[in-house]
Amino acid sequence: MDLELEGRTAIVTGGTKGIGLAISRALAAEGVRVVAAARTAPTESGEAITPVAVDLSTPDGGTELVRRATAELGEIDILVNNLGGVRSSVAHSERFADIDDAAWQRTIELNLFSAVRVTRAALPSLIRRRGVIVNISSIGARFAHPPVEYGAAKAALNNVSKALAEELGPDGVRVVTVSPGPTRTRNWEDPDGMGGDLAREAGTDLATFLAELPDRMGITTGRLTDPAETAALVAFLASPRAGNITGTDYLVDGGVLKTV
Ligand SMILES: NC(=O)c1ccc[n+]([C@@H]2O[C@H](COP(=O)([O-])OP(=O)(O)OC[C@H]3O[C@@H](n4cnc5c(N)ncnc54)[C@H](OP(=O)(O)O)[C@@H]3O)[C@@H](O)[C@H]2O)c1
Repeated sequence: MDLELEGRTAIVTGGTKGIGLAISRALAAEGVRVVAAARTAPTESGEAITPVAVDLSTPDGGTELVRRATAELGEIDILVNNLGGVRSSVAHSERFADIDDAAWQRTIELNLFSAVRVTRAALPSLIRRRGVIVNISSIGARFAHPPVEYGAAKAALNNVSKALAEELGPDGVRVVTVSPGPTRTRNWEDPDGMGGDLAREAGTDLATFLAELPDRMGITTGRLTDPAETAALVAFLASPRAGNITGTDYLVDGGVLKTV
């Protein structure tokens, strides 16, 4: 299927690693010119993917990114607010009272405010282009699972997305969320990341922990998601083929969430 994305432009936040890199590549493969934002330069970039170094956890990061992206791309057709993640040293056994204000603030800056600020800065262009916003959320938005402040930030992102879809619908701008479950990124696969922390807490090595994760989390398909699978959905949702889809949340979780 031709997604009719050839010649369009996109910003992908956190677009140089993990799910964000897969999204940058999927859009570029469809002929989209992509600005991929991250704090550090990526180890690879292609002709269609321009890296922009910016810290989006700062108050001015969103404006700075959009200024540099529009200088590079012109108008913005697609904004993918992918940046987010959990803090280090997450433990299943942690208690609510152990999570201090600084941890709450860091998580909300990264998972909610970064999207709010980039969206605000990109809105004039997105409205002129009748564009699309895809916010990358998480099953954590609907799933009571540590870390609690991450789920809370993602639930807020879902709420903002729905409200924006309502507000911007008359302007022709669509807003959707995509909510991954466990996905094969450094988040899980890095021994110093969340997967490593949880493996140590479970008293096992990371490889064994990951092999047992589908059972532990009830992943119906029996495996973690590949970032390219999430990216393919994002490319479809960003395309005119999905022109009457807005205000909706799409799970890519291998069946973790059991509610109807
Ligand atoms: N992986 C999963 O299992 C999973 C599950 C559910 C939801 N998600 C969601 O999916 C999204 C992507 O997750 P991921 O696991 O693919 O992430 P990741 O592999 O950790 O990649 C994070 C990206 O964000 C950039 N980044 C980090 N902090 C930044 C900052 N302050 N300013 C600008 N860029 C920054 C990183 O590059 P630099 O380090 O160079 O800045 C990198 O490009 C997140 O929203 C996450 O919550 C992931």
